[in-house]
Amino acid sequence: MRHASITGIGAYLPDRVVTNDDLSQLVDTSDEWIASRTGIRERRIVAEGQATSDMAAAAGRGALADAGLQPEDIDFLVVGTGSPDHIMPSTAAITQDLLGLRCGAVDVMAACTSFILALQQGTAMIESGRADRVLVIGADALTRHIDFTDRRTCVLFGDGAGAVVLEASDEPGVLGIDTGSDGSGAGVLVIPAGGAAMPCTPERVAAGEHYLKMSGGEVFKFAVRIIPEATKRALELSGLTVDDLTLLVPHQANQRILDAVAPRLGIESERVFSNVALLGNTSAGSIPLALHDLYTDHHLHRGDVLALVGFGAGLTWGAAVVRWMKEPKE
Ligand code: UT7
Repeated sequence: MRHASITGIGAYLPDRVVTNDDLSQLVDTSDEWIASRTGIRERRIVAEGQATSDMAAAAGRGALADAGLQPEDIDFLVVGTGSPDHIMPSTAAITQDLLGLRCGAVDVMAACTSFILALQQGTAMIESGRADRVLVIGADALTRHIDFTDRRTCVLFGDGAGAVVLEASDEPGVLGIDTGSDGSGAGVLVIPAGGAAMPCTPERVAAGEHYLKMSGGEVFKFAVRIIPEATKRALELSGLTVDDLTLLVPHQANQRILDAVAPRLGIESERVFSNVALLGNTSAGSIPLALHDLYTDHHLHRGDVLALVGFGAGLTWGAAVVRWMKEPKE
C-alpha cells in the first residue's frame, strides 16, 4: 500500500511581539490573569498589509527547502485556515502563485481544526495515487477578526503559519486519522457577520458583529472531552495504544486544557507538548508550528509516534497519528 510521510517542515511567525502587559494597556486585564487562566505570556501579530497567504507562503517555502524540493515538484496544495485573505479567491490560489507552484490548490476551512483536515486530504490524495507530493499548510491571522476592546477574546489569539510536505512512501508515516464535526455547536465560536448568512452592513460593523465571539467555558469543556476521545480513536485506527505514544501535540489554546487532558489520557504531562506561552492560540497554524518547534529543538527522532490533535469552531475536531520518519534536525 502507498503511504504518506512527512518529509519537510517549515514555519513562519510575524515579527511583532505583543505581551500581556501590552494588552493590559488596551483592556481591563493583567499579566497575572492571562498567565494563570491560559498560560499565555505573549503572541505574534501580523503586520499591516500582511495577509494569511504571505505567512502561508513563507511557511511553505521553508517546508519545501527542508524536503529538498522545488516548487514544480509539488502535485497539490492544501491550505487550512479560518482567516482566509478573502472569501473569494481562495487563500490557497494566492499562496500557490506566491510559491510558484504549478498545481491545483484548495482551502480547507475548519477553524482551528483546519490543519488536521488538510493533512487528512493530502494523505488521502497520496494514498489513492492521485498525488505523489502534497504541500499542506496551516495558516491564520485571526487577530484580524478580534475585537481589541473585548478582554474575553483579545488575550487568547496570535498569528502564524506552519507547513509540511507529504510524500508517497513505502513505509507508513501518517497512520490513523479521526475527524468529526458537530454543527449544533456552531454558535459557540463564531464570526457572525461577513458571510452569506449575515453580510456586513454598516450597522453590523458598528455593533461589532464582524468580530469573533466565543463562549469560552463551552469550548473549554468540549476540548477537554474531545482531545482524549479523538486521540484514542486515531490510535485505535493505527493499531496502537496510548503506551505507544511518544508525544501528544495538541492544538495550543490554553495551558489548562493541556494540563487537563494528560491525566484523562493516562500520560505524564511531559508527553503533552506546549508552546502556548510564547504564541497563544494561532488556530490552524498551531499544530504545524508546534511540530516545527519540536523538530528545530531536536526533540523528534525517527520512529517517534506523535498524535496531532485539533479542535475548534464548528464544532470540529481531528486527531492524526503520525510516525515521524525524518532524522533529527542537524
Ligand atoms: O481554538 C479554540 C478556541 N478557544 C479555546 O479553546 C478557549 C477555551 N476556553 C478558555 O480557554 C477559557 O474559557 C477562557 C480563557 C476563554 C476563559 O477562562 P475562564 O477561566 O473560563 O474564565 P471565565 O470566562 O469564566 O471568566 C471568569 C472571569 C469573568 O469575570 P466575572 O464574570 O466572574 O466577574 C470574566 O469577565 O474573568 C473575567 N475575564 C477576565 N478578567 C481579566 C475574562 N477575560 C478576562 C481577562 N482579564 N482577559
